[in-house]
Amino acid sequence: MKPYSSNSGSGDVMATSTMTGEQIVEATKRHTLFEWSAQSVVDPIPVARAQGIYFWTPEGKRFMDFNSQLMCVNVGHGDRRIVQAIQRQLETLAYANPFMATEPRARLGEKLAELAPGDIDVFFFTNGGAEANENAIKIARSCTGRHKILARYRSYHGATAGSITLTGDPRRWAAEPGLPGVVHFLDPYHGIERGWEDAPRALATLEEVIQLEGPQTIAALILEPVTGTNGILVPPDGYLEGVRELCSAHGILMIADEVMSGFGRTGEWFAVNHWRVVPDLITMAKGLTSAYVPLGAVGMRRHLAEHFRDKVFYGGLTYNSHPLACAAALATLAAYEEDGMVENARRIGAVMKTLMADLAARHRSVGATRSIGLFGIVELVRSRRTREPLAPFNGTSSEMTALGRFFREEGLYTMVRWNAFFTNPPLCITEPQLREAFAIIDRGLEITDRAVAD
Ligand SMILES: Cc1ncc(COP(=O)(O)O)c(C=O)c1O
Repeated sequence: MKPYSSNSGSGDVMATSTMTGEQIVEATKRHTLFEWSAQSVVDPIPVARAQGIYFWTPEGKRFMDFNSQLMCVNVGHGDRRIVQAIQRQLETLAYANPFMATEPRARLGEKLAELAPGDIDVFFFTNGGAEANENAIKIARSCTGRHKILARYRSYHGATAGSITLTGDPRRWAAEPGLPGVVHFLDPYHGIERGWEDAPRALATLEEVIQLEGPQTIAALILEPVTGTNGILVPPDGYLEGVRELCSAHGILMIADEVMSGFGRTGEWFAVNHWRVVPDLITMAKGLTSAYVPLGAVGMRRHLAEHFRDKVFYGGLTYNSHPLACAAALATLAAYEEDGMVENARRIGAVMKTLMADLAARHRSVGATRSIGLFGIVELVRSRRTREPLAPFNGTSSEMTALGRFFREEGLYTMVRWNAFFTNPPLCITEPQLREAFAIIDRGLEITDRAVAD
């Protein structure tokens, strides 16, 4: 293979690629499978290096990472503090099996106990979010002796056997029938055309589902406190509090899936903090290490952890509490604190909200904008009157494809899904950088505005 060198573009990190972007794409497509896609249509961006809110192709084309990759690189790319912590740990102790006790594991448990809501202070470490949810199900079933799990339709909880069954969105369909005992219920949000239900109404429907299923059969209810890929759905005030009350009233454990919404994304360490709700179990991944290395965790309240004092915890993973991952998480959490990134997400998030409102005022294809902290989405419509989405549920359209192409040409990377696109930059973003991204979005929306008839 022809060696190819690239050090063009700005940023401090220099990298040498031995393959061109084209060679990388060709070989990855030939020899590896891409997720959730028919392989003939995938069109990956070759990535050689990254720094801060930017990443570069081997040829030096710069992209602003407006989705923090997969809503996970919360601290931004190339943070030396995390890189060095991983290097130090690698040189000292790369791996110890999960029956051992290591310092990074000890320190991370302590640190998470300090950060997690309420009396959640015991953690089981996994390789990612899906496994965190798998173990949350196990813990809930073991602690309650019940088997059913309630989950919402507009949700994503991971791709492993149990987690994909919890998932409510169309990624579940191919995995059905899945895990027995999972029951889905509706959210307060019913799509761009029907809009929102208020909290009392949504809670009344949930209570009906609980009654119909038999509360004594339900081990847990899992939800994303602020739903991620299914629409950055910020619940109406009173909703999460009401879910908490219903769970407590019926002995159902509340699992908050904070895999995407945790670690500053919403302008709080965890999204549940906005409503002062303490779940019984909390799952996390992504921002825990900012994806520098894989790590997930399920945290539990003290009384649930007590259950396993005499009873066996039937769960295990070779890479549970991996020292490199724990060291990376400690350095990531320290970086959030040192740079005040959670506060930055709140402060810049307020600016983002005004920029999004401005888009809605100026572009007729903007049907709705939603955000909390630096967790945002813009939903596009074909008609302001009927609010018909610009692409159907679980589908796409020529206009959405054209918008995605425009963003890519302009060096703005974000996720374009169905009739919407996301605004989820790293939490270290500055206001000028944010405005630069919104200037590109503003021009892109001229494409989608042309599709609006009224
Ligand atoms: C809310 C939520 N839960 C769980 C997961 C699954 O995490 P992982 O891909 O690390 O298994 C995701 C991934 O996007 C997620 O957004």
